[in-house]
Amino acid sequence: MDKIGIVDFGGQFCHLIARRIRDLGVYAEIITEPSPEFKCIILSGGPGAVSNPESPQLPQDFFKNIDVPVLGICYGHQAIAISLGGKVSRGKEREYGKKKANINTSSPLFDNLDKEEQVWMSHFDQVSELPDGFESTAETDTCKIAGYQNLEMNIFGIQFHPEVVHTLNGTRILDNFLNIVGCKREYNLKDWIDKEINNLQEDIGEKRVIMAVSGGVDSTVAAILLAKANIDAHFIYVDTGLMRLKETEEVSKIFADLGVKNFHTVFAEERFLSRLEGIKDPEKKRKIIGNLFIEIFEEEAIKLGDFNYLGQGTIYPDRIESAQPSHHAAVIKSHHNVGGLPEKMNLKLCEPLADLYKDEVRRIGQMLDLPKRFTGRHPFPGPALAIRILGEVTKERLEALQKADSIVTEIIRKHNLYDQLWQVFPALIPVKTVGVMGDKRTYEWIITIRAVESIDAMTADWSRLPYEVLEEISNKIVNKVQGINRVVYDITSKPPGTIEYE
Ligand code: XMP
Repeated sequence: MDKIGIVDFGGQFCHLIARRIRDLGVYAEIITEPSPEFKCIILSGGPGAVSNPESPQLPQDFFKNIDVPVLGICYGHQAIAISLGGKVSRGKEREYGKKKANINTSSPLFDNLDKEEQVWMSHFDQVSELPDGFESTAETDTCKIAGYQNLEMNIFGIQFHPEVVHTLNGTRILDNFLNIVGCKREYNLKDWIDKEINNLQEDIGEKRVIMAVSGGVDSTVAAILLAKANIDAHFIYVDTGLMRLKETEEVSKIFADLGVKNFHTVFAEERFLSRLEGIKDPEKKRKIIGNLFIEIFEEEAIKLGDFNYLGQGTIYPDRIESAQPSHHAAVIKSHHNVGGLPEKMNLKLCEPLADLYKDEVRRIGQMLDLPKRFTGRHPFPGPALAIRILGEVTKERLEALQKADSIVTEIIRKHNLYDQLWQVFPALIPVKTVGVMGDKRTYEWIITIRAVESIDAMTADWSRLPYEVLEEISNKIVNKVQGINRVVYDITSKPPGTIEYE
């Protein structure tokens, strides 16, 4: 199967390039340096400035050592220019957001595009002088060299981001690049399932796996894969007390309905709450929860016999946001199932979905005949409601948030909005404000409602929920949830916000 290597310069969109390429039927991997196994190389964007010696650079003899087509995007576009003798300088102004670009449509990279295209930019530096043998193929009003090519060397560069939806014909540009390279479109999820089942059988074989399940899509799909591969696995669900209302019963029923054997529930609310007592810092909370999870798994492993592996539903974005495998991306949050792992662990990791994106996992779930109620479930973070209670987690706050959460989900489902949203949930802001109810003064906490639309959680838009729905949610929460007298709506997109609050 043809493979594409995407060199990661640390841009958050690097993985979005991989997803787009996979959707186009070619397997793409994020790499730190090129190797001959790749049919072509894409150089991603990145947060640094190429002129800064501390920023990642292309090795000096990069183009001497590889003989495959190369596409540079944003930072990658600048890095190529510099390494072949061109110049990069600071533009007059930062270009950020949607722009109009004039396109040379005779370039094979821009086949089937219009002379003027909407593109999405995020840069300050720009290529100011082309290397010998290169020609400009695109420009905007503030960036003369927004695209270039050297057809003989099969090198292309674009300053804008084709992987971002706001570059309206971005997918076509990537598709054109795959055509230039002559990639066979052989990557598909059906084959992925067969291969992964084979891999599990080969890698794990007779060894035993203890698998973490939360009832969410990722861990459920990972568990089913293990079951399909006939791996000797035990599935552990930890009731941390930080779950949503009735979650534990629901999860047990889901696994019972699927006929999965060896499903165990561990009740550990008191342990989690006592460890979290007095802890306000989000990263500390995440680490405590992650460590306690692992502790519990290890205890269960000892109780249940000899295990070799710890299974987890980790997916690609979990690793990205915990700054793995990129050396250059900043740590944004340590997701509990990656960043929270203790350094010393007695079990090896088994993460069948670690290279997949959420929508790929959902599609695989459907192919494995999981009901829509599984595959359509909104993502729910590992540390659960603990990171939706800002600051210290207490039983009282948890109970308020659990009730608010069930109200939000019920109303959103009733209005058939659930499937249109990436996520919708309340979070509790334990700051008291004054209110009035039944002629009496109240002094209680705030609930904030977060509803976002997204394709992969890397970027997200706040959802314009109808006012009537927001009103219904607000009224019901204030009336039914003790301790809450104010509901606010979060209108922050990602970036600059994140989806969760902590
Ligand atoms: P943020 O808040 O980083 O979230 O914009 C991106 C996506 O990841 C989910 N999320 C988590 N998932 N463990 C998980 O399994 C975690 O610790 C975690 N933290 C955030 C979040 O719900 C969103 O879909």
